[in-house]
Amino acid sequence: AKTEDFAIQAPAGVYVETVTSVTHYTDRLFRFRMTRPQEFRFRSGEFAMIGLMVGDKPVYRAYSIASPAWDEELEFFSIKVPDGPLTSHLQKIKPGDQVLMRKKPTGTLVLDALVPGRRLYMFSTGTGIAPFASLIRDPETYEKFEEVILTHTCRDVAELKYGFDLVDEIRNHEFLNEIVGDKLRHYATVTREDYPFKGRITDLMTNRKFFADLGLPSFDPAIDRGMICGSTAMLKDTKEILEAAGLTEGANNKPAEFVIERAFVG
Ligand code: A2P
Repeated sequence: AKTEDFAIQAPAGVYVETVTSVTHYTDRLFRFRMTRPQEFRFRSGEFAMIGLMVGDKPVYRAYSIASPAWDEELEFFSIKVPDGPLTSHLQKIKPGDQVLMRKKPTGTLVLDALVPGRRLYMFSTGTGIAPFASLIRDPETYEKFEEVILTHTCRDVAELKYGFDLVDEIRNHEFLNEIVGDKLRHYATVTREDYPFKGRITDLMTNRKFFADLGLPSFDPAIDRGMICGSTAMLKDTKEILEAAGLTEGANNKPAEFVIERAFVG
């Protein structure tokens, strides 16, 4: 009878799912996983509107789906904003709690929005790693690209842990590890703590340390592709660097050399 009560209360076009696990990384970041409706389909890299009932009203926010399309559960990586309309509540969820998800996923950070290439760069700051958490666990990414370079920049080392855990997970996953092989490279940097890899990715590209560290040539619009997910300022600065290298921005209806997700910022 409980489930029926919920079904009646669920707003039209919305799934009501159950939290299966929650991992807190820092006082600003956490990950949660929840059940996935059997009929729910999405492309790795897309986002969905995630919500909770706050009082008698649903409150939603755009969340990249961090799990790959093949995963039987759904994963999300979230910031905790102390007075955030959704995250101040969402950060308290526990396994067994119910979370709302609007039925239609969307987004531009999808493989279909890029023209074919050889190397795929994924640039992220903070929770901007989430769509890439999905894509680096999707075999299709490695069918389409010979090399995948995931960059993640955070304020401090503790905030990088989700990214390191993802790469470990791939390495410990029998089939995925075989598919990924040595194609995936992870370049993690911090800006507000001492660490061997220090600085904003934009600065590290401009001063060439990024290319030197990875032994990579300059961007080549003929073979290099990019995806960008971070704050408004980071999107703008990274886009300028790719455009200066001759890459053009694409979209679902007009694939090109790089794509940006603008859904989370502000
Ligand atoms: P910084 O510490 O120099 O501001 P946040 O946690 O505020 O979302 O930031 C995540 C990371 O993104 C931080 O390391 C931050 O560096 C970095 N960052 C902020 N603005 C930019 C930008 N315009 N270009 C590249 N990285 C940025």
